Amino acid sequence: MVETPIANVVTLATGCNYISIVKRKLEDLGSRQPDTLPPPTASELEEALGEKISKCDLWRKNWRNRIYFVQLASGESAVAKQVVRGDDAMVQYQYNQLRALAALGIPGLHLPRALALIIPKRTILMEFVHGQTLRELARHGSADDLVAVSELSGQILAQIHLAWTQEIAPMPVEVLARDLAAAPWHLSPREKAILKASLEILAQAKVSMGQVCYDYQSKNLLYNKSELTLIDPPDALWQGIHLWDYSRFRSGLRRMLWRIYLRQPLRRHRHARLRETFTAFKRGYIECFNKQHPEPAHFAVATRLLELQHTGMSMAMNQGKLNLARRLKSARPLLVATKSSLTTFPLLELEKRWLIQQLARELP
Ligand SMILES: Nc1ncnc2c1ncn2[C@@H]1O[C@H](COP(=O)(O)OP(=O)(O)OP(=O)(O)O)[C@@H](O)[C@H]1O
Ligand SMILES: [Mg+2]
Repeated sequence: MVETPIANVVTLATGCNYISIVKRKLEDLGSRQPDTLPPPTASELEEALGEKISKCDLWRKNWRNRIYFVQLASGESAVAKQVVRGDDAMVQYQYNQLRALAALGIPGLHLPRALALIIPKRTILMEFVHGQTLRELARHGSADDLVAVSELSGQILAQIHLAWTQEIAPMPVEVLARDLAAAPWHLSPREKAILKASLEILAQAKVSMGQVCYDYQSKNLLYNKSELTLIDPPDALWQGIHLWDYSRFRSGLRRMLWRIYLRQPLRRHRHARLRETFTAFKRGYIECFNKQHPEPAHFAVATRLLELQHTGMSMAMNQGKLNLARRLKSARPLLVATKSSLTTFPLLELEKRWLIQQLARELP
């Protein structure tokens, strides 16, 4: 651990306001002119890679990014990720992080090899990695594999956090309280009281802080032959409580399992095995720390509170996307995003209520 100057401590704590940050980012996007960024051309790709390509096909697309599958003349496959809604700095940062995270040398963690960068097209070229995302594995793969890879995901995340620990500090409950108050939800008086009680208890907790991955979750992790690939490293210097990454992974896992329970309600035995992913992930994470922060008495409540912050952030994101789609009626990816926002908003409301109930049970 390194000594941290006071000014930096303030930045770390204030960096925990993810709900407010998402709201501000989406408002910023809405105030800008719609971006019509053309795809990278074959000659731009060839010049950046320094070799010929035999094909480049649009493979995936969402409201933020376009992902192209590129075949090189040498036979190697690559991915070109074009950031349509974002800026040059985000692209440069994510490209650098591919190398920075690989340089940590964490056993079992792989990063796609960074191949080239085309800043005017906001495009990152990287190695194509074979494998299934953990989300795909949960849907179509073996539950045993998912349990094993969840434990590995916990071990790897803990090692990233150990490398990135800047300080062990009191949980910044005031910042969190302000951020939770900015979420676009309505809380009943009972829910407000539970939240207040949790924050009072967590004021005594100490947490590990520093750089966070921000989006360490099942859809951004590929599994292949006992190795985990983080395909979507941070696109900016996100800092805050390390437990944020832990909670975000849990939230992603829970949402994914809820969907599976709804789609395949009769496969009870498989569901029970899939639920073991939570304990496996926790076991992996905790065993890599010689000293746990927060300490066991506060771990469950702190995790749950940050899961709730994640729900608030998802609500803010969905609401922001809806506003943006209303403003830019012609943007098709945004209309798709809007449709999914409409269906997920009631689910997020349920999730919020459920998390607050769990929080009430976990309070000492
Ligand atoms: N290097 C890679 N090798 C193989 N597949 C990749 C690679 N990079 C991206 N993909 C595929 O493209 C999908 C989207 O990539 P990425 O997560 O970087 O974009 P995104 O806009 O954050 O999408 P999402 O919201 O689904 O996470 C991944 O789920 C994965 O299937
Ligand atoms: Mg992603």
